[in-house]
Amino acid sequence: MKLATCSYSSSPTSVTLARPRFSFNIFQLSSSSSSSSSSTAARQPRPAMVSARNYAHAHYLPPWFSVAPMMEWTDVHYRTMARLISKHAWLYTEMLAAETIVYQKDNLDRFLYFPPEQHPIVLQIGGSNLENLAKATQLANIYKYDEINFNCGCPSPRVAGHGCFGARLMLDPKFVAEAMSVIAANTDVPVSVKCRIGVDDHDSYNELCDFIYKVSSQSPTRHFIIHSRKAMLNGISPAENRSIPPLKYEYFYGLLRDFPDLRFTINGGINTIDEVNAARKAGAHGVMVGRAAFNNSWNTLGHVDTAIYGAPSSGVTRRQLLKEFEAYGETVLGKYGQKPNVRDVAKPLLSLFYAQPGNSLWKRKADAAFMHCTTMKSFFEETLVAIPDFVLDAPVGAPPSGSNDPFSNIHTLLPPPYESREQELQYA
Ligand SMILES: Cc1cc2nc3c(=O)[nH]c(=O)nc-3n(C[C@H](O)[C@H](O)[C@H](O)COP(=O)(O)O)c2cc1C
Repeated sequence: MKLATCSYSSSPTSVTLARPRFSFNIFQLSSSSSSSSSSTAARQPRPAMVSARNYAHAHYLPPWFSVAPMMEWTDVHYRTMARLISKHAWLYTEMLAAETIVYQKDNLDRFLYFPPEQHPIVLQIGGSNLENLAKATQLANIYKYDEINFNCGCPSPRVAGHGCFGARLMLDPKFVAEAMSVIAANTDVPVSVKCRIGVDDHDSYNELCDFIYKVSSQSPTRHFIIHSRKAMLNGISPAENRSIPPLKYEYFYGLLRDFPDLRFTINGGINTIDEVNAARKAGAHGVMVGRAAFNNSWNTLGHVDTAIYGAPSSGVTRRQLLKEFEAYGETVLGKYGQKPNVRDVAKPLLSLFYAQPGNSLWKRKADAAFMHCTTMKSFFEETLVAIPDFVLDAPVGAPPSGSNDPFSNIHTLLPPPYESREQELQYA
């Protein structure tokens, strides 16, 4: 399972490497719990899970719901909008390559700055060079992200083919463990891995367990986000890689059973609040939602605080949200020369009126306004006439009910328990 084609720098010069620290249960307030296991893996002794690094999370409700990292989607502008809708959702950044952080070290605000309201927020980094991962983590520390997540799930040829990172790293758990140790040694906040359930033909449940076992036993990683479909690295596009490989939620719930002292967040194909709650009811410690949180942001994020966290609704209307967003937008337009422009800042708003009267007209008007508007105020003046007042002034409605529960019989479908290959792993 070694990568013959990748060469990883493993002899950093001026950075701290592999100083293991271990994290405690960041989901400690969670009402859901995974079932215990009698499997061999479940009985393995694990490091004590206590560390000051985790107190960073004490200020926030647990990551029961998080918005997935999405390149060119979950940028700082999207996250500003998302936070105006939900106070408690955990927000992930787009993936940032360690190299970008290192090479742009005199220009870091552009890549790493976020308004303080965006907490709780997780920085996702990608890379395959230990020295750069260490330096990037150090450079990111001053921004005070709440967690650092390492990308082991991206199938993009741009990532997987150049520099050997993303999903391809699942084939080299030893390197991932090293990378996680390096990242953890250079930050005080918790660290996590986002991965697939397999890669190409390496798609058995046992191989997934080997990956989780090796990474968790050889690094401080205690939280895994599992995109519950495998990555196919040859021949299909990143978008197809998010729909063609079938979802295997039974693998995810198998992990909960076989690694009861780790924390797992489920991801992939979960589109409604009912499904989020169903996944948690079936035992998931957390649920990560990607496309639905972008393409239907108002209806998805609008129910997170109430229906998932049991917190009061903000009662915010889209008009109020847009007013606040306008103020935010004016302060950031042109911050870096020509960028961001109105199109960059307003892009996440384009899904705000999903399925509402006036939506198509608003999008057409927005497209035209992007050509010449230089302020958010003028952009809204020109476009919002397309949306009826009753849409602009309505708070989030009741969550849609009646969707299927994809997890109702998941525990009857679990793969056989993980057979730890202790002997083999010892010498891996
Ligand atoms: C436009 C786009 C960009 C993405 N970029 C990233 C990324 O930077 N890092 C990552 O780990 N996953 C990325 N993903 C994958 C998502 O995080 C998520 O795993 C995937 O969309 C499945 O979740 P969903 O079915 O809820 O959308 C991206 C997905 C989309 C649609």
